[in-house]
Amino acid sequence: MAKITVVGAGNVGATCANVLAYNKIADEVVMLDVKEGVSEGKAIDIMQTAQTLGFETRVTGVTNDYSKTAGSDVVIVTSGIPRKPGMTREELIGTNANIVKSVVGNCLKYSPEAVFIIISNPMDTMTYLALKATGLPKNRILGMGGTLDSSRFKYYLSQALNANSNQVEGIVIGGHGDTTMIPLKRLATYNGIPVSSLLDAASLDKVVADTMVGGATLTGLLGTSAWYAPGAAGAYVAQAIISDYKRVIPCCVYLEGEYGQKDICIGVPAVIGRRGVEKIVDFKLNDEEKALFEKSANAVRSTNNVLKEINAL
Ligand code: LAC
Repeated sequence: MAKITVVGAGNVGATCANVLAYNKIADEVVMLDVKEGVSEGKAIDIMQTAQTLGFETRVTGVTNDYSKTAGSDVVIVTSGIPRKPGMTREELIGTNANIVKSVVGNCLKYSPEAVFIIISNPMDTMTYLALKATGLPKNRILGMGGTLDSSRFKYYLSQALNANSNQVEGIVIGGHGDTTMIPLKRLATYNGIPVSSLLDAASLDKVVADTMVGGATLTGLLGTSAWYAPGAAGAYVAQAIISDYKRVIPCCVYLEGEYGQKDICIGVPAVIGRRGVEKIVDFKLNDEEKALFEKSANAVRSTNNVLKEINAL
């Protein structure tokens, strides 16, 4: 009997709960929100699709009652404010840090064995904060940014190739920020064929640039942060944990020397299974990628330093 809690029943949280139910990833999904009625209403709305879509997952919503989240195997944290057009993810830190810290603490009281997936922004720093504030082992807290960024990378690659996006492979490492993410164009393939042999350098560079501002582009179009892909990415990571799939997923994990970095949570490929982060896949970057990764880590670290300034850590 797998149970998943989704904290925050906004666009991302509710989409995530919907995908968890529709894809039968858990037996029970609890959505928790601070706004009276919102999670309850969205849970009922999702449950009213159960017959049409054919799933047995029980989705419920609660307002601030953490006792209802007890015994969760996975907790997905989407709480906090989303960005508005023109904002960076990093600008959300002042509001979101204390929210994320208290949410993770409250969930842990009732689900001491849970694995935490952080979606709230700035995601790399929120993952680091959750890890440091709780003192949990590093395998039990991860951020989903790289999963989402990689799905955007594959989308833009498929557009440039005029191809089925399921035939495209590619990963994004580094921070989950407009200037910190690193789509690894060298390793992207079209069903095993290097995309660099199918696209010219300018087209490939445009794919990389579009991927990096993929979230900002949607925020500009929608007036708020995206939700379908972020919610689905959270559910995809949760499924790997619940079903012990040992999926290799680029996600935000704590590094202790891998990729030349220490004391930081940042995106790299990792094996995700029942224990959460089961292994970091530490593969060799070329010099250009290494330099980009170091620059990305420095930027994430300077956002992490703000946590002390605002007394969140
Ligand atoms: C995005 C937000 C969820 O990239 O970080 O859409």
